[in-house]
Amino acid sequence: MRIYSVCMLCSLIISSTASDTGVQPIVALVGDDVILPCTLRHTVSAVYQSIEWQRPDLKPKEVHLYRDEKDDLVLQNPVFRGRTSLFKEELENGNTSLKLTRVKLSDAGNYTCYIPLLNHQKTIIQLLVGAVSRPVIIIEGMEGDEVVLRCEAEGCYPEPVMEWCDAQGRVLPAAGPTETSRDREGCYTVTSHVIVPKSDNNTFTCRVQQLEIKHMKERRVHVPDQMFPKTCWLTVLVTVLVTVLVEAVAVGLYLLMKKWILTFRKEAWTSLMKNKETTKNEEDEASVLSLSSV
Ligand SMILES: *[C@@H]1O[C@H](CO)[C@@H](O)[C@H](O)[C@H]1NC(C)=O
Ligand SMILES: *[C@@H]1O[C@H](CO)[C@@H](O)[C@H](O)[C@H]1NC(C)=O
Ligand SMILES: *[C@@H]1O[C@H](CO)[C@@H](O)[C@H](O)[C@H]1NC(C)=O
Repeated sequence: MRIYSVCMLCSLIISSTASDTGVQPIVALVGDDVILPCTLRHTVSAVYQSIEWQRPDLKPKEVHLYRDEKDDLVLQNPVFRGRTSLFKEELENGNTSLKLTRVKLSDAGNYTCYIPLLNHQKTIIQLLVGAVSRPVIIIEGMEGDEVVLRCEAEGCYPEPVMEWCDAQGRVLPAAGPTETSRDREGCYTVTSHVIVPKSDNNTFTCRVQQLEIKHMKERRVHVPDQMFPKTCWLTVLVTVLVTVLVEAVAVGLYLLMKKWILTFRKEAWTSLMKNKETTKNEEDEASVLSLSSV
């Protein structure tokens, strides 16, 4: 019996060292309750073990401590106060998972589940915390005969990628880069604009994706035809006529001005020449006068 349990301990140690890495991260959303999984290899009871849940990057690093068959939370980091528990009825099955309630953004990180007596059993659990919101679309106005749409998603973490699609799911180029801001808790608000022409199915989708937490949310909008500025044939005809008329008047005015300026210049030139001749005559007369007086 004694030999048997020693061997069992050996195999526990060996199997646990072999499979400590490469675990999928656990994803939780802000406000959720989450279970950080940890089990002893080979179903042995954990009731008489010490169980240490830690966050090595924090000070103090204790998240939850269990020893002498009860919780010992004297050393617990205050940020986890009242939010951690073990499944006491599961301990005898070797299930030492930790329940963390009311998850916050700051809970993201690597947790270790450490069983000192089974010296090498240390499981590392990576917890990712996200915050999500469904985007909102606003019809913002017109630009020419197109409609400007605005999409906004607030309180997101990690930073989401926002894109626009048409009814067929094709990505539409946004009107400018996505605007991003952060609030005090570190959550992102992102805004993106798109300018859309009238089409036979004015359905547009704003999609927000957070790849790290495998999260996607969409909002679809149908822009009614009457939102698009009218471009009926009469309007086009009137526009063309008015343009032609304005241009004709402009050309006419220009020609008139040109003619007027030419005439003016000619007159000015003629009078200048006349003036010059008169002056010359006067000078001649003056010299004649001075000669005669000598
Ligand atoms: C451990 O117990 C919890 C609570 O009952 C359960 O949700 C979880 O799946 C269990 N883990 C394993 C590995 O059995
Ligand atoms: C947690 O561990 C993962 C993989 O082991 C690593 O990439 C990541 O940087 C760690 N996170 C923190 C907060 O230490
Ligand atoms: C627009 O087209 C999509 C797919 O082609 C369809 O699912 C949707 O019902 C259509 N919407 C309208 C308002 O016609």
